[in-house]
Amino acid sequence: MKVLIIYFTMGGRTKKTAEAIASTLSNYEVSYFPIELTGKFIEKIKMLDKFENKDFSIIETELNTLDASSYDLIIFGMPTYGDKPPKAFDEILARMGNLNGKKTVVFNTARFTGGKALEYMKTKVEEAGAQVSDQFKFRKVFWIGVKNAIKFGKQINERQEKLGTI
Ligand SMILES: Cc1cc2nc3c(=O)[nH]c(=O)nc-3n(C[C@H](O)[C@H](O)[C@H](O)COP(=O)(O)O)c2cc1C
Repeated sequence: MKVLIIYFTMGGRTKKTAEAIASTLSNYEVSYFPIELTGKFIEKIKMLDKFENKDFSIIETELNTLDASSYDLIIFGMPTYGDKPPKAFDEILARMGNLNGKKTVVFNTARFTGGKALEYMKTKVEEAGAQVSDQFKFRKVFWIGVKNAIKFGKQINERQEKLGTI
């Protein structure tokens, strides 16, 4: 079975969480679609600003490869910016072919809030015609560990077994 993990990260917290979840998905062959802002802080902010203004030219080639058809499960992981996921999330959904009828999981990372952003993700994924079988908000003000992510990953594994995906 194949899972695609799509995540966005600027500070590494969402990446760390995504990789911890992946480490528990022993029944799956894991692929990633990462959007990782790198470089000095100012460079990251400039890139984020471009994305928030819907300029995705720098990742155009990658976005054009987005297709859900060969995956049994798609996991979306996003940070929280002003109670929403980054604009890249909406762009990914708009670009992703064959999402209709897919099984998906959504999670986000946040420092203080995050509930509204997670609901937003779930709603948008469902509007694209996919089913959300699990969701989780990883909220930590400072250090984000992997304990909850591992627990969540195990829950995903168990749920998919019950649903008969595996
Ligand atoms: C521009 C910006 C806006 C943010 N807005 C929120 C917010 O509304 N609520 C919240 O709980 N955390 C907010 N955060 C914190 C991030 O969501 C949190 O640190 C997240 O885990 C970062 O993920 P990353 O390390 O993968 O980039 C914000 C961070 C940034 C940089």
